[in-house]
Amino acid sequence: TRGGALEGLHVVVTSGPTHEPIDPVRYIANRSSGRQGHAIAAAAARAGARVTLISGPVALSDPPGCETIHIESARDMLAAVEAALPADIFVAAAAVADWRAEPAVDKIKKGVRGAPSLSLVENPDILASVSRGPNRPRLVVGFAAETRDLIRNAQEKLDRKGCDLIVANDVSEGTGVFGGATNQAHLVSRGGVEDWPRLRKEDLAERLVARLAQLIGGEAP
Ligand code: C5P
Repeated sequence: TRGGALEGLHVVVTSGPTHEPIDPVRYIANRSSGRQGHAIAAAAARAGARVTLISGPVALSDPPGCETIHIESARDMLAAVEAALPADIFVAAAAVADWRAEPAVDKIKKGVRGAPSLSLVENPDILASVSRGPNRPRLVVGFAAETRDLIRNAQEKLDRKGCDLIVANDVSEGTGVFGGATNQAHLVSRGGVEDWPRLRKEDLAERLVARLAQLIGGEAP
């Protein structure tokens, strides 16, 4: 599209879960489907941006018009994001695993020494590291998936991670957000909180991209 709202801009999006290996055949993961992140990448491409989508393992096809890079672990995701910078906008929609195991070289066999215990170490925070890094995009957007104290957690995240905007959504059991088709979000910035209606993930993506275009055009978040 010529003359799209994000024409001439580079947008980097992370999406999906990460997989953290325990041994050559097992991993730690989470319930992220990648639907929201992929929808945002597709919407940004439709708005004329050059889009780099960095995706964990998902059951979705690569969205049209994006350069999609497939990774598995959080550390690989961070490396791919850093390699994709500089960018004008960074949207961290991935559900990055907070911890990883020190993976065993060989498959852990059962019945040898009872159940193995996993010692976990913290993964890098991709959003915080991009937000505070030397190549910080002009607009940095994070997500907050919480089961309680949604807005307070989102505001705290805004400060802790140094981003400009947090898309907060309730992922309590029964909301159907994880893997579902719709999402109900609150847009949290230092300027305040905006409650959005329940929307299809594609429509939320369109609306978010329209807002990002406004913000990067000079309006304060
Ligand atoms: O505090 P929490 O980790 O839940 O924050 C979620 C936000 O941070 C999301 O935007 C997610 O993509 C990002 N994140 C990240 N790297 C991590 C953990 C979270 O980029 N290791």
